Amino acid sequence: RSVAIVSVPFGKGAATSGAELGPRHILQASGLTRKLNELKITYRLAQDIHVPQYLPPIPTVNAKYLAEVHAVTRQLGDRVSEVVAAGEFPLVLGGDHSISIGTIAGLAEHYANLGVIWFDAHSDLNTEDTSPSGNIHGMSLGVSLGRGIPLLTKLRGIHPKIKPEHVAIVGARSLDPEEKAYIRTLGIACYTMHDIDRQGIARVMDKVIQHLRQTTDGVHVSFDIDCVDPREAPGTGTKVIGGLSYREAHLALELLYQSDLVTSAEFVEVNPNLDRNNQTAKLAVELIGSLLGEQIL
Ligand code: ARG
Ligand code: MN
Ligand code: MN
Ligand code: MN
Repeated sequence: RSVAIVSVPFGKGAATSGAELGPRHILQASGLTRKLNELKITYRLAQDIHVPQYLPPIPTVNAKYLAEVHAVTRQLGDRVSEVVAAGEFPLVLGGDHSISIGTIAGLAEHYANLGVIWFDAHSDLNTEDTSPSGNIHGMSLGVSLGRGIPLLTKLRGIHPKIKPEHVAIVGARSLDPEEKAYIRTLGIACYTMHDIDRQGIARVMDKVIQHLRQTTDGVHVSFDIDCVDPREAPGTGTKVIGGLSYREAHLALELLYQSDLVTSAEFVEVNPNLDRNNQTAKLAVELIGSLLGEQIL
């Protein structure tokens, strides 16, 4: 299937600026298109999402840059929906993790039971009331589950976009107290670093794949690069020690390729301003390769 790459140069959902430079670095400096050519994958660059310079602020309790997040995610929803309608595989390049609100809004139109694999050190399940930071990238999975700011949860008129039983979080190690309570209450599958240490990433992914194969009609991979250990992925704004190793991250995505389940993906939170020698952007390109079928032998 042909890939449509959607660049989202937006970083205002995060506290530290720089994620808006992610798409350009992943595409140019780190050679995503070269990788896709090597893999003989046909692709096109879809039109970039336009990030407005200034919008009048929307008054809120505790959500920074809501007007900007809304403008970007609304456009991204349209773009992703078009890509799916054209029979292409959407590959979204962030940008901070708030953009996921738009990606999933566009997908929800086509998949009534969309599965989401949320690779992340965090769970991004905060609301305005529970967020310690007010940064919307810490709320995006919650919004897609229908929880939080109505302007965002009602995007494209589908509410909620996804169901808790179709979500799997992988790599978690930094959860806020109310996020933990929400995960437990809804029974969301959350494979923490403890689970991965104990069972191994292969077993964890086998469980995720088996469950989503039986219950969903499409699977979206939302890959926050901070799920990987900061040694391998230093170029990201909210680093948490104790993450996935280089090979664990690759193996997880290789297994997903073999499962033939994945229908869309996004790679987010690469911040070139915090990176060393483009290490993190290069890692993102290699990981995309694994998800799209690159094999060692
Ligand atoms: N839990 C913290 C917050 O709500 C950190 C979230 C980090 N999210 C991310 N997508 N990197 O602010
Ligand atoms: Mn995240
Ligand atoms: Mn994160
Ligand atoms: Mn179901």
